[in-house]
Amino acid sequence: MKLLVTGGAGYVGSVCTAHLLAAGHDVTVLDDLSTGHRDAVPTAAAFVEGDVATAADDVLNGQGFDGVLHFAARSLVGESVVDPAKYWHGNVVTSVALLDAVRAHRVPRLVFSSTAATYGEPEISPITEDSPTRPTNPYGATKLAIDHAITSYAAASGGELGAVSLRYFNVAGAHRPTDGPMLGERHTTETHLIPLVLQVALGEREHVSMFGDDWPTPDGTCLRDYIHVDDLAAAHLLALDAAGADGGHLVCNLGNGTGFSVREVVEACRRVTGHPIPAIVAPRRAGDPAVLVASAERARTRLGWAPERGDLDGIVADAWAFAQAMRVGAGA
Ligand code: UFG
Repeated sequence: MKLLVTGGAGYVGSVCTAHLLAAGHDVTVLDDLSTGHRDAVPTAAAFVEGDVATAADDVLNGQGFDGVLHFAARSLVGESVVDPAKYWHGNVVTSVALLDAVRAHRVPRLVFSSTAATYGEPEISPITEDSPTRPTNPYGATKLAIDHAITSYAAASGGELGAVSLRYFNVAGAHRPTDGPMLGERHTTETHLIPLVLQVALGEREHVSMFGDDWPTPDGTCLRDYIHVDDLAAAHLLALDAAGADGGHLVCNLGNGTGFSVREVVEACRRVTGHPIPAIVAPRRAGDPAVLVASAERARTRLGWAPERGDLDGIVADAWAFAQAMRVGAGA
């Protein structure tokens, strides 16, 4: 298929681009490089540097694209609270412009990066796609708004547009192909647990702070559902097929269905790196739910998806290999 990948210079977008190319697709990446990295875009992909909101129409015009995978987004929960305009414009306004271009140029398939943050504080665990959607921050609210926009554009297309939203839980790990460069998480502002813990093992920070140890969980720290980025990418390829099959808009969670605590993650990082990784208990972080675990039953039944890399030590080992490679690459 001829595919447009927005945000293909970012963590998840670049790994998905590598998987799409390996499966034989023809990929064009559109990214403004505001948070992504040009060198993360696999060389076999065409690259257009530009803002999705203004460039998508031109890129799609008359080119016969079979599908769009839309990763480009602002994705920092804390930043979204402080600077909501950046999220309503950068996520919602941009995505509506992309949807207009998709409609105008009759692109038949759309796969969208949605998030567990659309649910907010869950009432039941594991979270199904029928759970209430009550986001607790602007980031989740903007992703939910885009999901709603996609539903209405797909419905109004009379079957011309088929869409799948994939609600990611905690994406982690790195893509380590036998025949190409590693791709992983490289954020200027790092807020995610596993890369932060690995920074301690690299000697870049003295300790990790565990945000609260008095949560209603077995060891008092928060539980999250960590999913390997390669498993996540595999779901996108399946979603492309599903989007073409029956029109409409399908929403699927992507997670392993298992929660690991912050303490368990720190212990896994100690095992993998052999570093003692000092950890201190810090106050709770605002907006954190105690437990976020996915039911991915729908992705299994509707997409035929079966995650293969759910082992926490394996996820951490890949993230660690990438973190070390980046450090060497940076001349550290
Ligand atoms: N945590 C710490 N110390 C840190 C960083 C994180 O204890 O230094 C804890 C958090 O409190 C949380 C867990 O580690 O309990 C995971 O935190 P992350 O920031 O890695 O991930 P989140 O679960 O907060 O966020 C993820 C995605 C978001 C998405 C959210 C859904 O990264 O994009 O799930 O709620 F919005």
